[in-house]
Amino acid sequence: MVLAHAPLANAPAVLPQANDPCWCGSGRKYKRCHKRSEGRVLPGVVSPMRTLPASIARPPYADTGEVPERGESAVKSPDVIARMRTAGHLAAEILRLAGEAVRPGLTTDELDAYVHQLHIERNCYPSPLNYHHYPKSVCTSVNEVICHGIPDSRELQDGDIVNLDVTVYHDGVHGDTNATFFVGDVDPASRQLVKVTEEAMWHGIEAVKPGRPLSDIGRAIEDHAKRYRYGVIRAFIGHGIGEEFHGDIQVLHYYSPQNNDIMRPGMTFTIEPMISHGGWQHKMWDDDWTAVTADGKRTAQFEHTVLVTDDGFDVLTGGDGAVSPRAPWA
Ligand code: MF3
Ligand code: CO
Ligand code: CO
Repeated sequence: MVLAHAPLANAPAVLPQANDPCWCGSGRKYKRCHKRSEGRVLPGVVSPMRTLPASIARPPYADTGEVPERGESAVKSPDVIARMRTAGHLAAEILRLAGEAVRPGLTTDELDAYVHQLHIERNCYPSPLNYHHYPKSVCTSVNEVICHGIPDSRELQDGDIVNLDVTVYHDGVHGDTNATFFVGDVDPASRQLVKVTEEAMWHGIEAVKPGRPLSDIGRAIEDHAKRYRYGVIRAFIGHGIGEEFHGDIQVLHYYSPQNNDIMRPGMTFTIEPMISHGGWQHKMWDDDWTAVTADGKRTAQFEHTVLVTDDGFDVLTGGDGAVSPRAPWA
């Protein structure tokens, strides 16, 4: 698709009034044209797909981008759980190291190159790479980007918040975890959004209990977000995980009585709330991956891969060495 104006053109130092013609020469009012993207994240240039040494075991979709249905059972064997624990540790370590690299001026493509290398060093395949044709090894979601932001030539700016979502494929199973990081000096309202989102994830995790419905998780997350009048994004949900990246289990991050499957010991799924300063509605960029808030407000996310145990939960991507090792109050 061709845009009516060049989105990356440089704005003049003195900007027009809202109702004056846009500086770009489109003939439209400034408020109907470039004013809409002021302060918004703009797409950059996406570099070619990275490759991996042949020695690294690849998931079934790696070569084709097509994801076969396996119909994996929701309750995992002790062997799968043991391997998921290892994958979870590796994902947590890569996420922490990636977060430590975040600084103003770094492009998200440079972050992708680093994350890709961290996977290779650990004999991991970066699960996002070519998953349903996704082109990169990590998701980088800045400010109003809710999730699935594609690393590109955009430099991180002082004051941005950026979510890094790492999933590794190791020894036949996936481990999926993400966190939101500060770029330089971040304003207090954004800091609070990030803190409350992390807390909300932990409230959701603490609701994991065998015999209880999955809807307990969404209720706990939504209740916490509501205390701050924040929005809970609805279109993206937690998922079953194991030998498949995305299994059948659906974990809503808001309360819905229909989300009534009962949690059973041995189930593994992610809890990954996205919470915004505004509404829950989203829209998509033309790349069909990048989801942004419809109102342009900032949004944060945290994610862990969780196992249902005989009496509660075990966080397979948590513990010492994780960005968010345990509930802040635990
Ligand atoms: N890691 C994401 C999740 O939490 C999924 C990314 S899929 C990709 O479910 F294709 F965008 F990488
Ligand atoms: Co993820
Ligand atoms: Co996930």
